[in-house]
This record gives sequence, structure tokens and C-alpha cells, in this order.
Amino acid sequence: MIALPPRCRPACLAVLVALLPATIRAQDAAAPDSATVAAGRQLFEGRGLCATCHGIAGEGMLGPTTTLHAGKTKWLHHDGSLEGVVAVITAGVDADHSTSGQVMPPRGGSRLTDAQVRQVAAYVLHLHRKPLAPS
Ligand code: HEC
Repeated sequence: MIALPPRCRPACLAVLVALLPATIRAQDAAAPDSATVAAGRQLFEGRGLCATCHGIAGEGMLGPTTTLHAGKTKWLHHDGSLEGVVAVITAGVDADHSTSGQVMPPRGGSRLTDAQVRQVAAYVLHLHRKPLAPS
């Protein structure tokens, strides 16, 4: 509980109540909006070249270590944060870090800009939250 000085209680409460929606809006801003995710999807499936190795639905064209869908319960190369995914996409995965021996070139070998890498990273996290399509 926040201790409020007794004499300013009504005023302070009014301020706190007024601040609440701002706090909620700030949390929303941290989650990528749907326009970002949609832009990321286009890049993932197209110019980013990601789908070539990871599959349109993240099914992993180069084997189980390259899956990105919800069935992957443990990430191999990052902690699941947006920043972690951005870092992996930017740097790629070289032979020293690959768990399968297969490598990912920086930015997947594409010419994505830093801003586009962030969009595609938001889509990777979105893809990973989606339940697997029934086969
Ligand atoms: C040439 C094939 C190839 C391309 C293109 C490629 N990747 Fe990868 N990616 C890999 C491989 C291989 C790994 C590492 C798997 C391993 O350790 O065996 C990997 C790992 C990853 C990981 C980490 C997965 C984990 O478990 O931590 C992410 C995220 C990722 N790629 C996203 C992308 C995105 C987004 C793109 C497009 C910009 C992309 N990749 C393009 C082959 C590729």
C-alpha cells in the first residue's frame, strides 16, 4: 500500500486514479501492435528470407532446431525477450553457436534494416505464441 500523508488523501487519490490509465497505456506500448506484427510477417515470409529455413509457420525446414512455432518449448539462442530475438537475428548463428551444425547468416542473409529486424522479431514472438495448426 502506498502511504499517503493524511491531509492530502483525497487530492492524492485523485492524482493516483488519474495516473492509472497512463500506466496501463505504457504497458500496451511495450507489446508490439498488430501493424508491426503484420509488417514483420510480410518480411518473414518474403524479403527477410526467414521462411526458407524456418518455414512459413515456423515448422523448421532445416530440422527441429530451426522450428519457431509454439511447439518449441525452449529457445536455444536467446531468452525469449524482444531484445534477445533482435540480437540473434542481427548477428545470426555461427558454427560455434549452432546446436545442429547448420548456420544462420546475419539477418538471415537478407538486407533487412534495423527497424525491419525489430518488426520481424516481433513476428517471431507472435508466431511462437500461436498454437500449432492441427495436422
Ligand atoms: C540459411 C538458413 C536460415 C535463414 C535464412 C534464417 N535462419 Fe534463423 N536460424 C537458422 C539456424 C540454422 C538457426 C540455429 C539452429 C541451431 O542451433 O541448430 C537459426 C536460429 C534462429 C533463431 C533462434 C531460435 C532459438 O531456438 O533460439 C531465430 C529467432 C531465428 N533463427 C530467426 C530468423 C529470422 C527472423 C530470419 C529471417 C530474417 C532467419 N532466422 C533466417 C537458419 C536460418
